[in-house]
Amino acid sequence: MTAIRPLVAGNWKMNGLGASLAEIASLLDRLAQNGLPPTDIMVCPPATLLTKAKLMLEGGPVTLGAQDCHPLASGAHTGDLSAEMLADAGAKAIIVGHSERRTDHGETDAMVNAKTQAAHRAGLSAIICVGETEQERRNGATLEVVQGQLAGSVPRDARAANTVIAYEPVWAIGSGLTPTQDDVAEVHAVIRAELTRLIGEEGTGVRILYGGSVKPGNARELLQIANVNGALVGGASLKAEDFYTILCAY
Ligand code: PGA
Repeated sequence: MTAIRPLVAGNWKMNGLGASLAEIASLLDRLAQNGLPPTDIMVCPPATLLTKAKLMLEGGPVTLGAQDCHPLASGAHTGDLSAEMLADAGAKAIIVGHSERRTDHGETDAMVNAKTQAAHRAGLSAIICVGETEQERRNGATLEVVQGQLAGSVPRDARAANTVIAYEPVWAIGSGLTPTQDDVAEVHAVIRAELTRLIGEEGTGVRILYGGSVKPGNARELLQIANVNGALVGGASLKAEDFYTILCAY
């Protein structure tokens, strides 16, 4: 099997006005001056900034992602955005099933599965987020929860080329807490095995990102763990300097 090329993606969440595009310009400057790390790089700003960010990123080393989509291509769904619209605005990937969406909007695995299929229908990759709550970890249910989320969220025709999994323990997001290296290795190994069970050989090539309080200070130790094929970075992706330092872990 050929080595999996890592992906480091920045999830800006509901942060960023026009002025924040200066961080993207600064990231591009740093990459131009210092050379490219051996990893794919993506930024996922809010949908309002996609078209402007697209103009800045076109032809460069950083790709553009979006943070959510509606399952349908168009229709009477006020306020929603379809995968086709996000593709039209310049996105190459869509984060689906982030724990904040599962919590804030009651998104179920079935909905995440439908959104993943929508991303694929529009020719985009889906970054499918899974992860246990603090209570579930305390109850010893982590592996079972993550396996269940994968079984429900990953369409059986998913391919390594259009699907990324992000393991994000809910309790690690935005908290400054991270699991031990052994815990990350254990969950990522189970995700790899479950992907292979669900989609066969393709599962061996799917990138499995770690997410949850990835910072310049801990990126190196997290990114070297077996079956960790990159990171989904929230808070630390908002500042070009921090995000660039995380990329330098490779
Ligand atoms: P964080 O967020 O890096 O701020 O913890 C990660 C995420 O939710 O994707």
